[in-house]
Amino acid sequence: MSRLFLRKSVQDCENDIAERGGLRRSLGKWHLTALGVGATIGAGIFATTGTAIVGDAVRLGAGPAIVISFLLTAITCGFAALCYAEFASMVPISGSAYTYAYASLGEFVAWIIGWDLIVEYAVGNIGVAIGWSGYFRELLTHFGLALPPWLATDYRTAHMAAEAVAAGATDATSVYLASALTTAPQLFGFNVIANLPAFLIVACITSILVIGIRESATSNNAMVILKVVIILFFIAVGATLIRPENWTTPETGGFAPNGFRGISAGAAIIFFSYIGFDATSTAAEEAKDPARDMPFGIIVSLIVCTVLYILVAGVMTGMAPWPKLGTAEPMVTALALADGSPGLITVSRFVVSLGAVFAMTSVLLVFQLGQPRIFMSMSRDGLLPPIFSRVHPRFRTPYVGTIITGLFVGTFAAFANIAEVVELTNIGTLFAFMLVSAGVIVLRKLEPDRRRPFRAPWVPLTPILAIISCLYLMLQLPGVTWIRFGLWLALGMVVYFLYGIRHSRLARERGAAS
Ligand code: ALA
Repeated sequence: MSRLFLRKSVQDCENDIAERGGLRRSLGKWHLTALGVGATIGAGIFATTGTAIVGDAVRLGAGPAIVISFLLTAITCGFAALCYAEFASMVPISGSAYTYAYASLGEFVAWIIGWDLIVEYAVGNIGVAIGWSGYFRELLTHFGLALPPWLATDYRTAHMAAEAVAAGATDATSVYLASALTTAPQLFGFNVIANLPAFLIVACITSILVIGIRESATSNNAMVILKVVIILFFIAVGATLIRPENWTTPETGGFAPNGFRGISAGAAIIFFSYIGFDATSTAAEEAKDPARDMPFGIIVSLIVCTVLYILVAGVMTGMAPWPKLGTAEPMVTALALADGSPGLITVSRFVVSLGAVFAMTSVLLVFQLGQPRIFMSMSRDGLLPPIFSRVHPRFRTPYVGTIITGLFVGTFAAFANIAEVVELTNIGTLFAFMLVSAGVIVLRKLEPDRRRPFRAPWVPLTPILAIISCLYLMLQLPGVTWIRFGLWLALGMVVYFLYGIRHSRLARERGAAS
């Protein structure tokens, strides 16, 4: 047992950095905030809000009360953010939650978190790629172009659209997606239906990352400004199109048609839109003054996103009757259904789709860049094979990990349904948040005297509230998501006991030392 809980002390982590030289400390507090916002605003707000508002076969919708769902989730993330901030300021090296867990809860839990982060980063990116594809499809229509439907979606989504059409839906998107089932070519008796744009965008980003882009803070800032401007544009145009009765009309169930259960179910879905503020912590090793700036970056980016999301959600549900917003491109749908001048609506749809495509591309980049680096940390620690830390001789990038991530994300993006992917990502990330929060309590006990440049307030109350609220959101997710996540963790344990436990660098060093 003591072997499983072997801890890499904060000092060990600092020695590691000293040994390999560390990264250049060039990011100030606003750069870090921009990094958080850049990683956060993406498919969550642009694509998943629709299902959260309307619900589906397995869950209730929040209706216009989705704004409260956004607030609930923000509070949950706020508790977790304070815990992340404490860790990021005291363990200012790359690797994020995985590294924190290694320092506080020991190797086994660190492995579980590292394995779990694959769900947050790689599986999350599958969802973002599918969301990207939806808006890209919308964008093509503005140029009079349309992909064959069987190359623009996945089987399950096509099937769901066909059911909606059979039940009387007449909107263009449902009819188009449903036609994938009747137009798809056959291979060995199966319909060939694949989301080609989702696959291609991942392939494209993977190639760029193998060759290597400099993660330039300036280009990230430009991207973030663009995202925020597009969101503000939607809010400004949408505000002029609001009809307040859409929020309250009794015909559709009023403000909160499914009460607190609907609000909670919505919160568990739109949690996806908040994932990413924690990615700021992966840049801790590059922060000029991690003690002061990491907490600032994490917390301010969370606040900025919360305000924007609540405004978008409020405007969206004010523009159109909420039961009609359940598409994968709800902002465009809201515009299409709104009562405004056709010219303004068309231009706004174009601008929002273009902005969404850019916004999601930048999220894809951040996560697709982050995943191989987490693999690299785990591989350097001996928990994954050395191939994951192999650096390309010419491009100086972790190319093997990057290509493996690309193949995994691209393949699933071509065939998976966005809602299922998002649910799995959410349960995995909420679980990681819980472990990090627990880690704060444990490390306060184990290393009480270690310098904590930022101390989360009211420990252990804050981490306990983080754990309870994350668990609450996890419980709102369907049983099948729990089963999938359980299987994923079980697979992780098999890999650890077959490989990691025998190759752990820390265990070898400690063994040699004793
Ligand atoms: N929060 C990120 C997004 O919404 C994952 O795309």
